[in-house]
Amino acid sequence: MYRASALLALASAAARVAAQGYASECTAITYNDYWLVATCPTDDGEEITSSVFLSNKIGNNDGNLEWATNGEYRQGCSDCTLVDGKTLSCSCLIASRPSAVDTTLDLEEHIANYNGHLLSNQTGVITTIPSNSSIPVPTDFSVVVQVSSTNNSCASFGGTISMNDPTDCYFFNLGVDVEWLAVSTVNNQGWEIGGFTDEECTTEQAVSFTGENDGECVSFAGGSGLRSFSAKPLWNADY
Ligand SMILES: *[C@@H]1O[C@H](CO)[C@@H](O)[C@H](O)[C@H]1NC(C)=O
Ligand SMILES: *[C@@H]1O[C@H](CO)[C@@H](O)[C@H](O)[C@H]1NC(C)=O
Ligand SMILES: *[C@@H]1O[C@H](CO)[C@@H](O)[C@H](O)[C@H]1NC(C)=O
Repeated sequence: MYRASALLALASAAARVAAQGYASECTAITYNDYWLVATCPTDDGEEITSSVFLSNKIGNNDGNLEWATNGEYRQGCSDCTLVDGKTLSCSCLIASRPSAVDTTLDLEEHIANYNGHLLSNQTGVITTIPSNSSIPVPTDFSVVVQVSSTNNSCASFGGTISMNDPTDCYFFNLGVDVEWLAVSTVNNQGWEIGGFTDEECTTEQAVSFTGENDGECVSFAGGSGLRSFSAKPLWNADY
């Protein structure tokens, strides 16, 4: 019973907050590399800076920006800007024509300030609000994983993998089996890059790269090298 009433209280508080619109409540609202970032007031009048990864939530439907789970609108859209902190404006491709058309989407339809956190209810009603992360939202979301398939004590790297998006598993298919024996990250501003020995990230995570060990090379003995990676935001993020 206590649980049920707590949830009800949360739902009505959330509805009250949502009604006002985040763009009028929050400050420092920016659109950076498909992330919406803002600093929003908590119910106690404190502040939290948080982010929403829009490309997971919005798609390009034949020239129209639309809410869509894993929509990946950036694949067909360019020149995106944020107008008045709440309107996403892009130029998006139409299947039947080579040209792109201008289209907009009101982000307040599904994104609101929930006790300091910008969250999207695009996949359902918000029932839990995450705790406040001590890791700041990156100013640059691009993180690069440097890899080498030879144990050269990290003296040089044979390749780089850009891990700019949250992903459960990324496997770089070279057509032949390659294990990475020396691995290091560059410009990791708050991701947890997980390393796995298989191609599907189903084995136990072998190593964790965060901002704390950015630039530090980790090497592996032959037979226990890495094949796949996950990328998880450690800052306040809805993705
Ligand atoms: C999401 O929140 C908006 C207000 O921001 C509301 O109009 C809409 O009904 C909500 N959708 C869901 C699925 O809860
Ligand atoms: C949230 O965390 C940030 C970073 O640690 C801190 O600056 C801010 O004061 C925190 N806000 C609240 C409401 O706890
Ligand atoms: C990699 O090679 C260096 C130099 O030969 C050696 O000292 C080190 O133990 C090797 N590391 C692994 C993980 O095999």
